[in-house]
Amino acid sequence: MKLAENFLDIVRKSRYAVVLTGAGVSVESGVPTFRGKDGLWSKYDPDEYATKEAFERDPVKVWRWLAMGIELILKVEPNMAHIAIAELESLGYVKSVITQNIDNLHQKAGSKNVIEVHGNTLRLRCTACSYREIINMVPNNIPPYCPKCDAMLRPDVVLFGEALPYEEWDRAVDETSKADVYIVVGTSGVVMPAAMLPLIAKGKGAFIIEINPEVTSITRIVDLYIDKKAGEFFSEVMELLSS
Ligand code: APR
Repeated sequence: MKLAENFLDIVRKSRYAVVLTGAGVSVESGVPTFRGKDGLWSKYDPDEYATKEAFERDPVKVWRWLAMGIELILKVEPNMAHIAIAELESLGYVKSVITQNIDNLHQKAGSKNVIEVHGNTLRLRCTACSYREIINMVPNNIPPYCPKCDAMLRPDVVLFGEALPYEEWDRAVDETSKADVYIVVGTSGVVMPAAMLPLIAKGKGAFIIEINPEVTSITRIVDLYIDKKAGEFFSEVMELLSS
């Protein structure tokens, strides 16, 4: 409880706390991470399923793989980490959540100011025109086609080799630069350019907190390292908030 008390004290005294999350924040919801022993990339070669070239080569194969992700994401629920982060936002302490995740769980937990730098699997976009669509089921036909122009629709996520959505990235850098407390949860910090964000925060003088059961490439620059699973740690935070 001591660490949670310390964490909450820092967040309550902050002027502008910003959260950055990665796959680890959703592990306790049943969403796998990418790296590590049980990570997605140990089962699926990203060159075959998750690159711009793979999609151009065989869109149906990539689509079928992404459809499994959509199916999973439609079933999972936010855990205590998503819930506490949303609560800290509604209390006015956390100003924004920058996430590399595409699972929609921060929004489902009630976070309002969510910046999705890698997109969202529950949103489809047309490969040719500006058509967008929010989905709540796996499309019946894979691949689905655009009702406006007949080109192929695809999940609005960033594949390796693709540029980040620039408006989201711009907002992420802007929020990061404003932060005096920067809370990094469950990311290995190896995928660029998102991995640069904690360095930007540090450069601007923010107090960096990391919550991750494993040491990462970010740990060396943090001011407070919390060696815990996100869901477990934020359960303690929620307990303190409601006491
Ligand atoms: N709580 C907190 N952190 C956890 C937990 C947990 N319960 N379980 C695992 N972690 C940590 C791991 O220790 C690891 O540092 O989550 C991190 C997950 O790292 P990655 O799998 O590399 O995920 P992420 O950093 O989000 O990956 C970035 O890589 O492939 C791309 O586009 C994909 O957005 C993703 C990007």
